[in-house]
Amino acid sequence: MARTTIGFITNHRFLADEDKKFLRIAKKVGINLVIFNAAEKFDIKELKKKAKKCQIIFNDEADYLALELAKSLEVFGCKVIEISKAFYYTEDKWLLYLHCLKNKIPVPKTTLLSTDFVSIKKELKDFNQFPVVLKRIEGFHGDFVDKADDIKEAVVIIKRFWEKGEDRFPILAQEFIDSYSYRVMTIGGEVVQTAVKKSDNWKATGGSASRFWKFKVDKELRAILNKIKKITDIVICGIDLAKKDGHWILIEVNAEPSFKFFDSEYNLVIEKTLKHLRSLVSKKKR
Ligand SMILES: Nc1ncnc2c1ncn2[C@@H]1O[C@H](COP(=O)(O)OP(=O)(O)O)[C@@H](O)[C@H]1O
Ligand SMILES: [Mg+2]
Repeated sequence: MARTTIGFITNHRFLADEDKKFLRIAKKVGINLVIFNAAEKFDIKELKKKAKKCQIIFNDEADYLALELAKSLEVFGCKVIEISKAFYYTEDKWLLYLHCLKNKIPVPKTTLLSTDFVSIKKELKDFNQFPVVLKRIEGFHGDFVDKADDIKEAVVIIKRFWEKGEDRFPILAQEFIDSYSYRVMTIGGEVVQTAVKKSDNWKATGGSASRFWKFKVDKELRAILNKIKKITDIVICGIDLAKKDGHWILIEVNAEPSFKFFDSEYNLVIEKTLKHLRSLVSKKKR
């Protein structure tokens, strides 16, 4: 059987440790890995030539330039995991909320705010959930997520988001769930890892430098995960959850999730990812 060639999108001037891990593990399992580096010049001819060699391409980066590279490769006819439209639709926190309502997946009460402060103040008053979580419809690493105790504080946070990022970028107000932060990683819908962060900090970010514990996927969570599988097109998926009154509640779904929750499983999760990508190629051929 011919070896599978998988493209790998990264965005580092010098290959990062994770990039090197992917290269090493791909070699171990008999996969050719072709690096597409968004930190290098976008040379159309070169990109097309390299793209031709790949049966599938994995984007390991959650940033806009890597996304632009992923979209370029899609234009050249490549199958990219994750599909770029997942970023605009599945990962959009407001659209996810709507899909959850439609499919009866428990989610925090959420409302999409206006872009003028007179309306925002009224909407927050009507929403009447304090403390209130404010978050942009998209963002990562908790960069655009914060919590306010009252309307005044909320206005300060929204102003800060708009100064730091794009002006008047849509923002959600969300019920605050006082909970540990739970993460489930799925590959092709199968659970490969669970991690709970028990810390005093309400906002869980990042995969490294924090302590995590594993937790069991119970029946109730399994049912939620099955529903999530149906509404998301994300193949390698990081699912953030919380617990409210002893019941699971979905916070968000992520493409390009961190592989780094446990040192002892880091290599294994990468190996499973590569093998799953390869299985998608053989499925395509049949
Ligand atoms: N409604 C909420 N109630 C309590 N904590 C929340 C809520 N929403 C988010 N968080 C915390 O903030 C973290 C980051 O929020 P999240 O929606 O996952 O944004 P990001 O895309 O930046 O990761 C979550 O992992 C969780 O710990
Ligand atoms: Mg998150």
